[in-house]
Amino acid sequence: MQPFIYQTHPQRIVFRPGALAALGEEVDTLGAGKVLVLCTPAQRDLAERAAAVLGARCAGIFDGAVMHVPVEQARLARSTAAELGADCVVAIGGGSTIGLGKAIALESALPIVAVPTTYAGSEMTPIYGMTEGGLKRTGRNARVLPRTVIYDPDLSLGLPVPVSVTSGINAIAHAAEGLYAVDRSPVSEWMCRDGIAALGRALPVIARGSGQDDAQVLAARGDALYGAWLCGAVLGSVGVGLHHKLCHTLGGTYNLPHAEVHTIVLPHALAYNAPAAPEAMATVAAALGRDDVSGAQAVFDLAASLGAPVALRDIGMREEDLDRACELALREQYPNPRPLDAAGIRQLLDDAFHGRRPG
Ligand SMILES: NC(=O)c1ccc[n+]([C@@H]2O[C@H](COP(=O)([O-])OP(=O)(O)OC[C@H]3O[C@@H](n4cnc5c(N)ncnc54)[C@H](O)[C@@H]3O)[C@@H](O)[C@H]2O)c1
Repeated sequence: MQPFIYQTHPQRIVFRPGALAALGEEVDTLGAGKVLVLCTPAQRDLAERAAAVLGARCAGIFDGAVMHVPVEQARLARSTAAELGADCVVAIGGGSTIGLGKAIALESALPIVAVPTTYAGSEMTPIYGMTEGGLKRTGRNARVLPRTVIYDPDLSLGLPVPVSVTSGINAIAHAAEGLYAVDRSPVSEWMCRDGIAALGRALPVIARGSGQDDAQVLAARGDALYGAWLCGAVLGSVGVGLHHKLCHTLGGTYNLPHAEVHTIVLPHALAYNAPAAPEAMATVAAALGRDDVSGAQAVFDLAASLGAPVALRDIGMREEDLDRACELALREQYPNPRPLDAAGIRQLLDDAFHGRRPG
């Protein structure tokens, strides 16, 4: 018997195509009536659709969400919410927009309704992050956990294929590390397996792009969002290891794009940990339908076959920064199945920099 502790989070999940139409009733269920809708500038149209659904409940739209939540944007959004007398925020978009909602909730305790349109998974976690002076600070607080999450696969139909692929592999990363987390449980392990399998099935269909049957594409979008939900729930309930810490360092310090960094680093972080977590790695490979290769190779092959970037050098990393990145990654101690050693991490970074397939 595997002893465990499993902490559940009180959240309401609404999952169906067309679920955006229920946004007003979901806000009513929370007892709120003055909503600030958050989005990125690029998703203003979608926020306006949400505002139309909310009708008189909508107090305004703030369209200034930016990747990694700069502290200045968080302050501006908070003061907008206060000026409008908002009693709820609706965050419609990817992890950046939901992150902005969390920055508001952290200080005001306003409830968040999250309507995710990528697969990053932030809507399922009590983790927040903010960037100040080039440094990203993260923390956990139950206040920032969205109270309601509306998953509407229709809203991700327009997510560009390259973003869909990297965002999907970002989700797989949560579950892959969840499989060897020290605080995993039978429930989280099941979510990892089912989440990885759903994304592994859906991403190739999504990557084929246009010219397919609409119903097939919508089914794949639904599968991917379902996988993202489970993988996000894993991230919200267990502590992750080397892979997430490395991506946090690389993304924050060298301003590299979040989902792409996850996509490139994941096979190498899994290869590093494989000797200490063989069962977890076999589960990753099996969930991706690849019993013929290692978990690390299965993830690398999935990314490469879907046209995702596989080398850090191709997304703006400089070779001369690898030594410093290695130093930063070793600075903090965190639970990881294989102890951290400088030579091993430096080799991992070199492999990820050049995009080598794990051996
Ligand atoms: N706190 C957490 O638990 C957690 C978890 C995962 C990610 N994050 C954070 O989330 C951020 C990354 O989130 P992301 O990868 O979702 O990217 P993102 O939110 O920055 O979105 C990327 C771009 O895609 C656009 N977009 C989003 N959905 C779209 C759609 N359906 N159609 C067309 N365009 C769309 C956005 O407007 C944006 O321009 C990072 O800052 C990361 O640290 C936090």
